[in-house]
Amino acid sequence: MIDRYLVAPTAGVRGQISVPGDKSISHRALMLGGIAEGLTEIEGFLASADCLATLEALRALGVRVEQSGATGARVHGVGLAGLRPAAAALDMGNSGTAMRLFMGLLAGQPFDSTLIGDASLTRRPMQRVAEPLRAMGARIDTHDGRPPVHLHGGARLRGIDYVLPVASAQVKSALLLAGLYAQGRTRVTEPAPTRDHTERMLRSFGVRLECESSAGSAAAALAAPGAVAGVGARVSLAGGQRLHGGRISVPGDFSSAAFFLVAGCLGADAGLTLRNVGCNPTRTGLLELLRLMGAQIELRSVGPAGSADSVEPAADIQVRRSPLRGIRVPESLVPLAIDEFPVFFIAAAAADGETVVTGASELRVKESDRLAVMAEGLTRLGIDCTLLPDGLRLRGGAMTGGRIDSHGDHRIAMAFAIASLRASAPIEIDDVANVSTSFPGFAALARAVGLALQDQSHDCA
Ligand code: S3P
Repeated sequence: MIDRYLVAPTAGVRGQISVPGDKSISHRALMLGGIAEGLTEIEGFLASADCLATLEALRALGVRVEQSGATGARVHGVGLAGLRPAAAALDMGNSGTAMRLFMGLLAGQPFDSTLIGDASLTRRPMQRVAEPLRAMGARIDTHDGRPPVHLHGGARLRGIDYVLPVASAQVKSALLLAGLYAQGRTRVTEPAPTRDHTERMLRSFGVRLECESSAGSAAAALAAPGAVAGVGARVSLAGGQRLHGGRISVPGDFSSAAFFLVAGCLGADAGLTLRNVGCNPTRTGLLELLRLMGAQIELRSVGPAGSADSVEPAADIQVRRSPLRGIRVPESLVPLAIDEFPVFFIAAAAADGETVVTGASELRVKESDRLAVMAEGLTRLGIDCTLLPDGLRLRGGAMTGGRIDSHGDHRIAMAFAIASLRASAPIEIDDVANVSTSFPGFAALARAVGLALQDQSHDCA
């Protein structure tokens, strides 16, 4: 088994493509569909390894889920009280979202559950979820704050008023899911706005949710990207509300489109179009960052489905080759671009001048330490960069080829494939099998737009 991309330098990319469905929305559609009453039909579902871990876990908890075709799923909801104990530990694979959201969903069940994951997930912090859930009355064991996680059944949860110490949509979502099983109101305040897919989807399942935004809301951060974010939105719900299944249409994943957005900035002389990409403003911080760097990007909205506050907006995005200049990244945009930093650093390496990112220490606890791993790879390609405790400082310049260790991190692997648009020699990227956790078909799509990518991530025996 060789898990490797070999990417030769290419001058340009072009074409019109669609990226697979959104990972965050796909996880949530399965989970909420599972505890809803009636059928939930999902189209545009992302059948990646991460989302399939959620799907299999729901099946193990007694929910019937059928996949139809490559991107359809039908979830036969069992209602708020209908989950059943799993026969064995639930394996979340590489997925932090699956583990943290299931912690919230399972903390108030009458039965015990154990959550396990792969080597990367086993290193990631779960204390940030366990602590507030314990304050709600949950009984949870972890291994020094990390997986495996054991949730004791039969806890009676009560709503709490919690101010998140870190901006995390996963923690917010876990508490809202637990809040459905709690007595009274669960209220969560964010230090800065984070993705709001859970809130939108809960509403579309009929849950009444109160949301107060403030000067630090996503809209405010986008209107004034230089401004320091204040307190983010406060969201609350009353426990015991029933969910009603329905139809969910999942747009393309902005975080997957991000690789091609940067590819377009570096090499799309004739333009590159990405169709039907989710453009929820709590996800599109990278658009603002690239525009601040001088990128030419145009959006054409594609009709949203659903009522005003449950809509997931989507757009066709057109990007052209643009000269980029280095920037100081506004810290308020960091949570809104949190998954896009690996490829953002490639854009910065191809830009004129210095780029500085601070306030991004969360990147150290993703699928890998994304600050250290990106600094290591960029240095390998000849880029002058300095690792900061909470960010990275780098100066754009010529990139050589070289051998990159992705440390099993899907987004690092894909980011360095995009660097081939500016590298002077081939880039070899090791340990790329986990690309399938978020972006099955990446290699084929990269070739379709013109990258010279050879995928050796299969059994070559
Ligand atoms: C996610 C939230 C983010 C993000 C992750 C998906 C989600 O994590 O990095 O890829 O679906 O809620 P944090 O909540 O840890 O910031």
